[in-house]
Amino acid sequence: MWGYKPLWSSAARWFMGSFMKSRLKQLVPLSIRQEIKRQLLKRQDRRDPITAPRVPPRAETFIGGGDFERVGDEFAEILKRHGLSPEMEILDVGCGQGRMARPLVDYLDSGSYTGFDIVKSGIDWCHKHYADVPNFKFEHAPVFNARYNAGGTFEASEFVYPYPDNQFDMAFLTSVFTHMFAKDVENYLMQISRTLKPGGKCLITWFLVNEQSQNADDPFYDFAFDFDAVSKTTTPKNPEAAIAFDEKFVRKLYEKAGLKIADIEYGTWARPSSPYQLQDMVIGVKI
Ligand SMILES: C[S@@+](CC[C@H](N)C(=O)[O-])C[C@H]1O[C@@H](n2cnc3c(N)ncnc32)[C@H](O)[C@@H]1O
Repeated sequence: MWGYKPLWSSAARWFMGSFMKSRLKQLVPLSIRQEIKRQLLKRQDRRDPITAPRVPPRAETFIGGGDFERVGDEFAEILKRHGLSPEMEILDVGCGQGRMARPLVDYLDSGSYTGFDIVKSGIDWCHKHYADVPNFKFEHAPVFNARYNAGGTFEASEFVYPYPDNQFDMAFLTSVFTHMFAKDVENYLMQISRTLKPGGKCLITWFLVNEQSQNADDPFYDFAFDFDAVSKTTTPKNPEAAIAFDEKFVRKLYEKAGLKIADIEYGTWARPSSPYQLQDMVIGVKI
């Protein structure tokens, strides 16, 4: 009998914890929850300051949770596995605060890195922290996104990347199309294809809706709401928080953009036993 007590009490604690969490979510406005989180992170930054170069303080990151260094390091290995080499010219669309750029600083020698993002503070941060790396360039694009840049003046569906045709050997987007709408990703895919060299690769993460993900038992994200005919969201009030696209629609977009799908690495969000990352990753090659 006594042996069961700790089990019961931890189950009760867990239940109360998740119950309180969901009640708090309903009762406390998002802006207040975000401010509380920021204050807690600030306290953690004071107690245990981050000293590694090119890693922002926890309270100043806006690109989501997770270990900034580990996520970047792992992605650099993925890029290498897909053919990245030190002399390549690469494009990072939606580069945030350089999470994917940081591990490439010592890797790209005669090559170069170009990243752009719509959040100016992130680009300003990168300008300051990569000032000593001449082959790394960060640019701000004032494109609208309700979640990340509500004051943006350009529509993502019309934004023309400020780079010439056939410039890059490789382009990548991590957790960017997962926050954008169909007409926006369509234009971005066209721009990626235009700016890639023939034979150049693009590595893009998505949440793909297909038979497997729709029948997944307990997916990491529950895309329960149809946003439009080709996409779903987890939260209709704030759809850009997480968007998933119908895989057939995505395949057609690649075809339209002149990109051949070489492979898809389906992520753990809907396949817990997958050896890959959380999100699905589509590997495209410019024909
Ligand atoms: C979850 S963060 C990921 C950042 C970065 N790719 C990484 O993995 O660290 C999503 C990023 O997409 C950027 N973003 C959203 N809409 C965009 C758009 N239309 N063009 C470029 N970047 C965009 C946001 O500003 C944000 O930095």
